[in-house]
Amino acid sequence: MAITSKQLRESWLKFYESKGHVNVGAVSLIGDGTTGVMFNVAGMQPLMPSLLGKPHPLGKRLCNVQGCVRTVDIESVGDESHFTFFEMMGNWSLGDYFKKEKTAWTYELLTKVYGLDGAKLCSTVFEGNESAPRDEETAALLKGLGIAEDHIFYLPKSDNWWELEGTVGTPCGPDNEWFYPIDPEKPAPVFPDDYVEIGNDVYMQYRKTEEGYIPLENKNVDTGFGLDRMLLFLNGLHDGYETDLFAGAIAKLETLTGKKYDGDAAARKAMRIVADHVRTTVMLIGDVNGILPSNTGAGYILRRLMRRAIRYCRQLGVHPGETMQAVASVFIDEVYGEAYPLLTEKKGYILEEIAKEAERFEAMLEKGMAEFEKCIAGIERKNAFMAQKDPAYVRETTIGGKQAFRLYDTYGFPIEFTMELAEERGYGVDKAGFDEAFKEHQEKSRGDLHAGEAKGGLESHSEQAVRYHTATHLLNAALKAVLSPDVNQKGSNITDERMRFDFNFSRAMTPEEIRAVEDLVNEKIKEDIPVVYKEMSLEEARAEHFVGVFDSKYGDMVKTYSIGEFSKEMCGGPHVSHTGELGRFKIVKEQSSSAGVRRIKAILE
Ligand code: ALA
Repeated sequence: MAITSKQLRESWLKFYESKGHVNVGAVSLIGDGTTGVMFNVAGMQPLMPSLLGKPHPLGKRLCNVQGCVRTVDIESVGDESHFTFFEMMGNWSLGDYFKKEKTAWTYELLTKVYGLDGAKLCSTVFEGNESAPRDEETAALLKGLGIAEDHIFYLPKSDNWWELEGTVGTPCGPDNEWFYPIDPEKPAPVFPDDYVEIGNDVYMQYRKTEEGYIPLENKNVDTGFGLDRMLLFLNGLHDGYETDLFAGAIAKLETLTGKKYDGDAAARKAMRIVADHVRTTVMLIGDVNGILPSNTGAGYILRRLMRRAIRYCRQLGVHPGETMQAVASVFIDEVYGEAYPLLTEKKGYILEEIAKEAERFEAMLEKGMAEFEKCIAGIERKNAFMAQKDPAYVRETTIGGKQAFRLYDTYGFPIEFTMELAEERGYGVDKAGFDEAFKEHQEKSRGDLHAGEAKGGLESHSEQAVRYHTATHLLNAALKAVLSPDVNQKGSNITDERMRFDFNFSRAMTPEEIRAVEDLVNEKIKEDIPVVYKEMSLEEARAEHFVGVFDSKYGDMVKTYSIGEFSKEMCGGPHVSHTGELGRFKIVKEQSSSAGVRRIKAILE
């Protein structure tokens, strides 16, 4: 049957409402921190307290369509069936009806409402183990509905038991899964190869604890059918990107790239990745508890998605920021805006943040790719050299952890991103080595941050903050050059958006002086001077005219950064590797801060 995503959502809710369920609506995609799961991965997640026995204000029969984000295999996205966001159509019995009603309703919905042939349905039930019995009861009910005995299969816990992985204290239980032939016309289809799973009813009657599974007082039902999957399969399609959820995004990508989706496989894969990742980006930034790309937690996952999409936009030969914005607009305006009105409200913000991240990453991507190629070339040089010396030499195919960390730290390559690049070229990455380098760096920066506090410095370690940090060094040197060598930094404060810099000077700067300082900083940026780190003794630093807080003890080693001869400061870092990474420097304000102290606010454009 032909059915649209809108019709499918509505028909699901209507059916369960007709069976006495209340639509509880969808909640935030961002996990509330109680489960240890970062995103909402199932419709049951927000209902956990009720499944464990707490009365729900809207009653014992609930239904909804809930957005979910599952990011365990981001790298698999690009084929026809992996997605990072999907909507789960669900309904629940909170200690109310149980297996008899549930099996009958699922059967009725699938055969009467969605027109599936009951004779072709297959169903699987739990075979039993030491925690829970074999589910003969459900099997008998299925038989009673007309499902043939040889279409019912008993499977182990790995197949027919549902729980939130990696959690304890959460409700769970055996499930009954529903299958239909991928090609309904194929004679004598074989289970499971010729079948697709369309959804499942979980009989949630246990609580998972450290000691094992404890029966719950409530016998609950937790049903989940993936809307995206259902839509595909009810419309007789096989590629998830052909449904109305994605058709507009793919068409937009075809127009922008001038390539055909059903043309070459590489372009198709790239379009799928861009479409999927942009959709999830829209949902995560546009959520009620919306997040932004960052280097930790959920923000890091979002960053991985966005950076992967940026890379594939480039592969398609289109401008990443603009393309992702155009695709995001399609999702908001044509697909999800009606069901999720907040997306429309937040559209401007979503598009802006997409452009920002694209700009941030693009500035580094090319250089990072060159660096990546250097790593590969280095390994191959060594291989060639060693093979000449020793014919039995086994080729090295692993990129070192330190190199991977440099790609992460300097060029913003998420480790998974580097691993994917490496794999495409037949290499691996020393992930343990990366983790070690990461930890080392974290410990070092924590110490440095401490040291930096006296100077009122860096609050975050985002790439943007690091750029601003290097900019404070250039500004400090430029002020000395333009105003007076006696000018000294009195403090600084950096966010991702701007920098503030306090310095001793007794009067307001003239517009000409401001201009001269700006020009000088921009000149040094244009020269793309390497930023050089060196540890030296305090005495050496003094002799070499490094500026900074000389509060260390005699004999101490100090950390220094120099930018050519122009700027020499004692500082804990971190900094960019070349001044060219900064973009354009602009002073937006110069004002008094306190007696004899002026304050400059500046941005990098
Ligand atoms: N909680 C079940 C699932 O996610 C319904 O599939």
